[in-house]
Order: sequence, then C-alpha cells, then structure tokens
Amino acid sequence: MDGLPAGVFVTGTGTEVGKTVVAAVIARTLASEGGAVAVFKPAVTGLDEGVEPDHALLRRAAGSNQSDAEIAPYRYGPPASPHLAAALAGEEIDPGLLREAARAAGAGADALVCEGVGGFLVPLSPDYLVRDLAVDLGLPVVVAASPGLGTINHTLLTLESVRAVGLEARSVVLTPWPRRPSEVEESNRETIAALGRAPVLTLPPLDLAAPGSWPALQALTPL
Ligand SMILES: Nc1ncnc2c1ncn2[C@@H]1O[C@H](COP(=O)(O)OP(=O)(O)OP(=O)(O)O)[C@@H](O)[C@H]1O
Ligand SMILES: [Mg+2]
Repeated sequence: MDGLPAGVFVTGTGTEVGKTVVAAVIARTLASEGGAVAVFKPAVTGLDEGVEPDHALLRRAAGSNQSDAEIAPYRYGPPASPHLAAALAGEEIDPGLLREAARAAGAGADALVCEGVGGFLVPLSPDYLVRDLAVDLGLPVVVAASPGLGTINHTLLTLESVRAVGLEARSVVLTPWPRRPSEVEESNRETIAALGRAPVLTLPPLDLAAPGSWPALQALTPL
C-alpha cells in the first residue's frame, strides 16, 4: 500500500501460537537499531480476560507512544473471532477504516509491525479476512507457529495461503523453542524449512516483562 513504511505482517497458524511475542521481538529489534517503530493490530478481542492486551505488549516492545485506538482501532471484551465480537457489539469492522488506520499508524515511522488476528483466514468482517488486509497492506509475512506435534501441516498450509495471494513469506518463527528440543521438534524445524522453502527461526522462552533481555529477531534488513 502506498504511504506505508517498511514493515512486516505477523500471522500465525492459529490463535495463541505466539504472534504477539514474535511481533513484539521484531518491533523491539527494529527499535533497538534506532528506528521509530509503529505497531498495528486490526482488532483485539478478549479484553475481558484481564491479561496484558496485545496492543499494550506491542507498544511496550516498540517503545511507541501510540494510543490504544491508534494501534488497534477495534477492541472488544469477549474472546471471539473479530467478526463475531464486532457483531456482538452491534457493529461491523470496516476494511477501509482499517487501511486508513494502518496508514496513519505508519505515518512518520521507520517501520510498521502488524499483528494479525488468529490465523490467516480469520474473518475481520463477514467478507474481509485477515488475508485480505495483509494483501491490502502488501507487507512481507512472518508466520508464528508452535514447535510441537501438528505444526508441519498448519505451517505449510499457512505458507501456501500466503503465497497464493502473491505475498512474500519472509520466515517462519517457532516459539517458544525449548532449551532442549525433542526429536519431534528438531524434525519439525527441518521439515518445515525443506517443504516450506522459507527460513525457519526460533525464539527461546522469554521473560515478556523484560524486553531488554530478548534476543534480536531480524525480519527486515536493519533500518
Ligand atoms: N518465546 C516465548 N516466550 C515466552 N512465552 C511465549 C513465547 N512464545 C509464546 N509464548 C506464550 O504463548 C502464549 C501465546 O502467545 P501469543 O499471545 O504471542 O499468541 P498469539 O498468537 O498472539 O495469540 P492471539 O491469537 O490471542 O493474538 C502466551 O502466553 C505467550 O506468552
Ligand atoms: Mg496476539
């Protein structure tokens, strides 16, 4: 999309697979290189659950001063797919508003790190999927995935879906990657790299409260 800085779109093989952690570490890496990093998440659901919401962790990692609404224009209490959470609130997510909000988030920043919602084919509105937003933004895609059993199929399906719409699959990040990976986990990493034709990176278990202790995760050429 015209008017966006360099950036990445972090999707995942599903919900709760580490998208926020991966996006946060990428944002932190870029910020530690001295760039002004903006973060964006089209919709956040599950605010009722009382844990640090994704937009807050992303903001903290990026060292950004964006408001909640600037990072995540749609925010809902129930832990539901965004199209359902919006319907429960009596509204519908507007794709045009999301594109405009992403452009506004990136304005003046050196890099924009976007996190999707759930997996790549999750609906934001009844006929506008996370995939469609990724296409509209045109950013290279990073896929967050779990290291364990079941991940090969989910990851390869996601990579195929990313490439089917002409987007670049920049890398896969397996998280949290155990200090002592099992045979299955090691094999998953090798198999995804071979069949997925993308670099497969890993993130160790992190102390999410301490961004200063995180390793760098290079998803973009340094700013
Ligand atoms: N490297 C890691 N170190 C520590 N915790 C991790 C790591 N990777 C994933 N987790 C944990 O796994 C859980 C899911 O991660 P995360 O919230 O990033 O997933 P998500 O895909 O963004 O979920 P959602 O679909 O809700 O946005 C969290 O509790 C997170 O803290
Ligand atoms: Mg998340």
